[in-house]
Amino acid sequence: MIQYNFPTVLFYGADSLIALTPAIQKIGLEGLLLVTDPGLVKTGLADSVRNTLTSSDLNIDVFDGVHPNPIEKDVTNGVEVYLSGKYDGIIALGGGSAMDVAKTIRFMAVHDPPLAQYDDTMGGDAKIINPMPPLYAIPTTAGTGSEVGRSSVITLKETGRKTIFFHPGLMPDIAVLDPKLTVGLPPKITAATGMDAFTHCVEAYLVDSFHPMADSLAVEGMKMILESLPVVMDEPGNLEARGQMLLAAAMGATAFQKGLGMIHSMAHPLSAEFNIHHGLANALLIKFGMEFTLANALEKPNQVLLEKLKLICNIISKSTTEDVSLLPENLSNFIKNLGISPELKQHGILPSHIPDLAQLAFEDSCHATHPFPVTLEDFHAVYTRAL
Ligand SMILES: [Fe+2]
Repeated sequence: MIQYNFPTVLFYGADSLIALTPAIQKIGLEGLLLVTDPGLVKTGLADSVRNTLTSSDLNIDVFDGVHPNPIEKDVTNGVEVYLSGKYDGIIALGGGSAMDVAKTIRFMAVHDPPLAQYDDTMGGDAKIINPMPPLYAIPTTAGTGSEVGRSSVITLKETGRKTIFFHPGLMPDIAVLDPKLTVGLPPKITAATGMDAFTHCVEAYLVDSFHPMADSLAVEGMKMILESLPVVMDEPGNLEARGQMLLAAAMGATAFQKGLGMIHSMAHPLSAEFNIHHGLANALLIKFGMEFTLANALEKPNQVLLEKLKLICNIISKSTTEDVSLLPENLSNFIKNLGISPELKQHGILPSHIPDLAQLAFEDSCHATHPFPVTLEDFHAVYTRAL
């Protein structure tokens, strides 16, 4: 038996935000805590969304205690605010960080601390048993796809490690994919988050398990990102392309229910140790992860993996006969055209940092579904290439 999970209800299109209030009121909710980050309060977007959603029967308050790489304290503070007010639901507004904090507040509002006991890698999901308040997700970036995901990632105080929490109940009830909310995204964040979505599609597709439904979403997601990401970089106000990116991000995240791979394992320590944006970390590593994966597929040889890499190569070069050996280079050109220079040393990483980074990547759970085993030495070698 294989279990396939498909997303939450999606409201898609310009001004689809307006449809959320009636949907919330339909189930009788009266007070919602809107979880967001200080950046969105500063730009005025949090207030604008709050005003759009608020009605005479629906009160919404803003909680903006979310760090870019969220920490346990964000959750503890959020739970305290949620429990001290008259709230019967949660809205997540922002990128992956706001989504992750909102999801974690959602289950910690009805479960006992400490948060560490719910760590998914320690079987903590089995302890998430109580009914949770409704959650509505409004992404303002097109990247993590966390709005359709069943997990959250929070750095625990005790270990300092990014820790995954997972439960089907963490999936938002409704996700609003309104491209008007992503037009203000700065170019660097647009590029980085877009590359996160692209990496999700690539890594999910490469996972060696039988899931043709997720594979289809991953392949289509790649095509949409390759088409639309350069457009939104050139025309930030293009709602059509912004919408395509939002959908592709949700598709990538739906596809990665198959799992991810070594690129995400290597990206996580770059964020945790050097505060590098998660999407940027993927963008800096994907060329080298693919180069290594291709070399392995050719050496074995692994025909199934090779065919998948050929397909990705053809999608990137918009060809049907591209030489697969050009995959890393073509990928690198795409990334450079987004204004990202793919060298770790330009982001503060020195050769002396590599042993620790490699160890952390090796301990990260994402590479468990890489299409072949990746060793500590492999991580060391790929980080070194990426310098
Ligand atoms: Fe990611």
